[in-house]
Amino acid sequence: MRIGFFDSGIGGLTVLAESLRRLPAVDYLYMADTLHVPYGTKSRDDVKAYILETVGMMMREGIDALVVACNTATSIAVEELRNLYSVPIIGMEPAVKPAVEMNLATGKRVLVFATPLTLRQPKYYALVSRVDGGGIVDSLPMPELVTYCENLQFDKAIVGEYFRSKLAPYDLDQYGIIVLGCTHYPFYTNILREILPQHIQIVDGNVGTVKRLAALLHRYGISGGRGSGNVRFMCSGDNPDYIEKMLTALAILREDDVQSE
Ligand code: DGL
Repeated sequence: MRIGFFDSGIGGLTVLAESLRRLPAVDYLYMADTLHVPYGTKSRDDVKAYILETVGMMMREGIDALVVACNTATSIAVEELRNLYSVPIIGMEPAVKPAVEMNLATGKRVLVFATPLTLRQPKYYALVSRVDGGGIVDSLPMPELVTYCENLQFDKAIVGEYFRSKLAPYDLDQYGIIVLGCTHYPFYTNILREILPQHIQIVDGNVGTVKRLAALLHRYGISGGRGSGNVRFMCSGDNPDYIEKMLTALAILREDDVQSE
């Protein structure tokens, strides 16, 4: 059995790393749309066309399930992909609902980081209006973080300064949770942790997504595969250097894992 993971770039690796941990007995095809990354600063129509084209390539390679490991792509095309293909498809959306629920007791606010394109989508408005009865959710676009990530820029001083300047207008005492609503952002959880006051939690949707994937595979009777956690990396352009970059980025994530164990 082979599960496809799709993202504009290396962001979906943060979800893949979680999946490799929890579902090691399947094989993976990881696809990055290197020709068009980043998605978050482009138009909805363009990005939709890129997604359909790139996922089409993955389907031709053969996959048994698809994880759209990209909040932006999910908000734009997950329904259409489900109409087009019969394999199970899991999407991702910012973990606003659990964050609001977790914060109810504390009375603090929730701050959602995501791409500008995700934050403009009707799907995001619908999600926030559904779960945020108390008006406690604020949203902050972080497009530069995707650029840093794609350049493997993990320098604490540089990215830390970026976070500080983005967060300067906010009174952080009022906030209880920051939601990472873009799969590139968990690469920076550790740097962000050092900057935030201790009382602020950082949440992302990665564990929840992989749990849903595991449940779905079970439901479709395709769990317990005989793979070996083998990952085949692909990208939309002919770009061997990018394959190297994905391997480096995945190794960084797995190193972080070992350190946090
Ligand atoms: N990783 C993506 C997301 O989860 C998209 C980032 C981008 O291409 O701008 O939203």
